[in-house]
Amino acid sequence: MSLNIPKHIAIVMDGNGRWAQRRGHPRVFGHVRGSARVRSIVKAADQMGVRALSLYAFSTENWSRPESERRVLWRLLKKYLMRDADDLHRQNVRLRVIGEVERLDADVQAILRSVVERLQNNSGLQLTFAVTYGSRLELARAAQLFALDCERGIHRPRDMNEALLEKYLWTSELGDLAEVDLFIRTSGEHRMSNFLLWQAAYAECVFIETCWPDFDAKDLARAVEEYSKRERRFGGVGSAGPEFTSAVSGDMLLK
Ligand code: FPP
Repeated sequence: MSLNIPKHIAIVMDGNGRWAQRRGHPRVFGHVRGSARVRSIVKAADQMGVRALSLYAFSTENWSRPESERRVLWRLLKKYLMRDADDLHRQNVRLRVIGEVERLDADVQAILRSVVERLQNNSGLQLTFAVTYGSRLELARAAQLFALDCERGIHRPRDMNEALLEKYLWTSELGDLAEVDLFIRTSGEHRMSNFLLWQAAYAECVFIETCWPDFDAKDLARAVEEYSKRERRFGGVGSAGPEFTSAVSGDMLLK
């Protein structure tokens, strides 16, 4: 069976804490193992022909976690960037970061900036880390930026439409790739948790029982297989429509 490969996959890398606790380890050990998964999933997505991969590394709501846990996450992010920048470059991967990056410590911001700059001309997999990101914040920020442009006379309120709003989102640089095709969440939770809500409006969602530290290339392939079987109708009637409408007219049913 030939697979229909999603152009853009977004993943909520959930279940690190539970994975560790079930094994009698502190929660942060799950993040250590979880961060080690990123490399292989980036590679697997790239090899499958996925064009954009977005990973939810830290949400605006995650600021409520203990400082000690946050510190570990920043260290892991820095370690990943320092270790994997060369590999990403060799794979022609481009990296972007979305979210309130300015809230991060200066050293984390600096390394993010330097790796993003280094990979900025790469044209392969478009990798996005969502770090201190929230969709509601992204939309509120877009509204604010648009209002400022109206004040400056660059736009008028009636100019606003979906295409224009997208230009104010953090994902605007992804252009046509910003729309999420496949939304994956690990660990058995069935929520979107404020991740790419606008961009995933018509995404196919696949929820996987496996916790993120165990999620591997085979799980990714299974999610893509599941995606391949789905019929995406985007609010239309899809392949069932014409048969139904020709056999039974709406008027007949209403009589
Ligand atoms: C959710 O698990 C996971 C996170 C909040 C952090 C995800 C971050 C990483 C995998 C490391 C980031 C590193 C890179 C390289 C991007 P949880 O702690 O909420 O798990 P739980 O639901 O079991 O408590």
